[in-house]
Amino acid sequence: MTQQHPMAGGPDHAGAPETRRFDFAAMDGAARYRLLASTIMPRPIAWVTTCAPDGTVNAAPYSFFNFFGADRPVLAIGALARPGREKDTAANIRATGEFVVNLVSFALAEAMNATCVEAPPEVDELALAGLAAAPSHAVAPPRIAASPAAFECRVMRLLDTGPGQLLVVGEILHAHYAERVLRGPPERPRVAAAALDLVGRMHGASAYVRTRDVFHLERPVWPAPAGAAQAASPDAGGGAQTAAAPGR
Ligand SMILES: Cc1cc2nc3c(=O)[nH]c(=O)nc-3n(C[C@H](O)[C@H](O)[C@H](O)COP(=O)(O)O)c2cc1C
Repeated sequence: MTQQHPMAGGPDHAGAPETRRFDFAAMDGAARYRLLASTIMPRPIAWVTTCAPDGTVNAAPYSFFNFFGADRPVLAIGALARPGREKDTAANIRATGEFVVNLVSFALAEAMNATCVEAPPEVDELALAGLAAAPSHAVAPPRIAASPAAFECRVMRLLDTGPGQLLVVGEILHAHYAERVLRGPPERPRVAAAALDLVGRMHGASAYVRTRDVFHLERPVWPAPAGAAQAASPDAGGGAQTAAAPGR
């Protein structure tokens, strides 16, 4: 059998559109990162505030981020170490077990970007970016006052998933929402996606997306009601858009 380059092209099997297979075991980490980070997107951005053991506040964006349940409210973020040194966020979370995830609106995108600078641990990136901090309720790290939504978290699990790779699984203890993004009665609040105006991370080092290009798909039911057609419809108003049923 001839030796193939790991990025060699060619159809995988007859009849399928031409694809290219990448043998991840034969590639280096940087090449795998380039592919994955430009494909698994858009990614929501966790703007994570932590405290060092001496109380120094740290803020940095992390787009390896999502939530993984609500019956126990769980979210996770992934930190990749710099050569030879763990990121401050990861080190602070290991040391204190606490962090706050602040979400990033379009209006805050530039300030978020300012806090991704590779500053030494003693630098408070919130002060650097001219951002005000607001006290949290149950954890030491403050939240970012201007963020439209913030989640106070306590570590549930720390998973070292590879060299310099830390997956932080946290339980959300408290959520803070700006009143201006909430709709509906106090006993059944809904979040107005358009008012949140969040941004997501895209490919490469500098590409982002706004979350305004919304369309809707009705979920199919089984058996399908007679004559029902499933069609995509664009988002009409951009108001409080929440599914009628819990979205699972
Ligand atoms: C939008 C955005 C998303 C990022 N996502 C991640 C991520 O998921 N994991 C990671 O290790 N670094 C990520 N980075 C890079 C870190 O923010 C950067 O290394 C930062 O300096 C880390 O700061 P810290 O040492 O204070 O934690 C991201 C940067 C940006 C701008």
